[in-house]
Amino acid sequence: MKTNESRWQQRTQILPEDRSAEFKQYPYITMDELKLRKERPRRVKMLMRDFIDDSLYNPHYGYFSKEAVIFSPGEPFEFNSMRDEIEFQSELGRRYIEFEDLLDDAEGVNPTRQLWHTPTELFRPYYGEAIARYLVSNYRLTTYPYHDLIIYEMGAGRGTLMLNILDYIRSVDPQVYARTKYNIIEISPALADLQTRHLTSTAESRGHFNKVNIINKSVFAWDQYEPSPCFFLAMEVFDNFSHDGIRYDMTTEAPLQGHVLIDADGDFYEFYTHELDPVAARFFRVRHAATGGQYPKPYAANSFVRYLSTKMPFAPNLSDAEYIPTRLMQFFDVLEKYFPAHRLLTSDFHSLPEAVKGLNAPVVQTRYKRRMVPVSTPLVHQGYFDILFPTDFGITEAMYRAITGKLTRVMTHGDFMRRWAYVEDTETRSGENPLLSHYKNASVLVTV
Ligand SMILES: C[S@@+](CC[C@H](N)C(=O)[O-])C[C@H]1O[C@@H](n2cnc3c(N)ncnc32)[C@H](O)[C@@H]1O
Repeated sequence: MKTNESRWQQRTQILPEDRSAEFKQYPYITMDELKLRKERPRRVKMLMRDFIDDSLYNPHYGYFSKEAVIFSPGEPFEFNSMRDEIEFQSELGRRYIEFEDLLDDAEGVNPTRQLWHTPTELFRPYYGEAIARYLVSNYRLTTYPYHDLIIYEMGAGRGTLMLNILDYIRSVDPQVYARTKYNIIEISPALADLQTRHLTSTAESRGHFNKVNIINKSVFAWDQYEPSPCFFLAMEVFDNFSHDGIRYDMTTEAPLQGHVLIDADGDFYEFYTHELDPVAARFFRVRHAATGGQYPKPYAANSFVRYLSTKMPFAPNLSDAEYIPTRLMQFFDVLEKYFPAHRLLTSDFHSLPEAVKGLNAPVVQTRYKRRMVPVSTPLVHQGYFDILFPTDFGITEAMYRAITGKLTRVMTHGDFMRRWAYVEDTETRSGENPLLSHYKNASVLVTV
């Protein structure tokens, strides 16, 4: 044990001591190199952030490029004719089975199909209409008629929100519709394709064709300056932005950055180093400045309690893991640099059930034989698992304000919908309202 007591390595033995010489020889691989890989790499090391990014977005085996299928209910649910929430749940279950049976018929049975849904899809078109009402009201109050209504949507899934927003504006405010331009920034070629297909599938949707521009690239590769006032939508995208894994030295409170090592057999090992890469280092600086040092930590605040906890038998000398949203910070940098006059509207989960251990830790799950199976680590076979993180809206809001210099408001999903949706559209006969009772763990952040 003596030789294993270095200050930066967990005594719980994440990286096996007897193989450290072999591991030292493995080269570091960067995100840009990973993107070019057609097969999952072996005998390499990388940042935890890059490992998660590669698992989700590698063009050849990434979750969003290959596996993800977003559920669509088909015809919108008729909430007003349903008895109550229970009937909505059973109808949703029935449509899920129907949707997947049709896919099985078309593509063959696939026990590892990754199917999930979002509020945009469940509550279409009402969810999109609420967002459209927010956009049109705010546009009319501020930059109309001097500027066009320019909308950017990052990560548009099946393109449903885009169609619902444009349908709504066309029917209620033709003047604004005439001045509307809608841009989608989508990382996944498969989803960008699907969005184009949906846009051109009916005469009604084809009517929007000249207003829409679908750009198939990651927001992190964005390089066009948008000088005009615009709205920037991001619905359930932050949760899939990669994070860095951090553990703290329990004596000095210094952060250590997580790395992943993949051996010759494709097995994963986690290790931590004192040197922070420039992105993680900047995150700590910006978070500290933005919050005045007030943010949660994955270890006891009291130094005596910390000292005692390191004296327990088999106690690790590093804290529990914390997952820091480094990619989200980089997204705010993109907004600040290329969209100086934007107003952000974003919705995401502020907490997630069945997350892995740690502060701000992700849910890592895969769907097998039509059931979601959560696992206990993000170090899993790349591409087969959704890895989604909760958003700490307090810290996120402070960092967004610090980076962009703009003011914001955060509210719950329910409060946003009560304000902007026609909630009677989604009310059941018993008075229960799935639009308000679902997604209690989601919040909305808007630029004011
Ligand atoms: C969970 S889905 C949400 C889809 C849609 N907004 C909805 O609510 O139904 C996340 C979407 O973001 C896209 N995405 C993730 N990272 C991205 C990035 N860096 N740049 C652009 N799109 C991204 C995914 O491909 C996917 O379309």
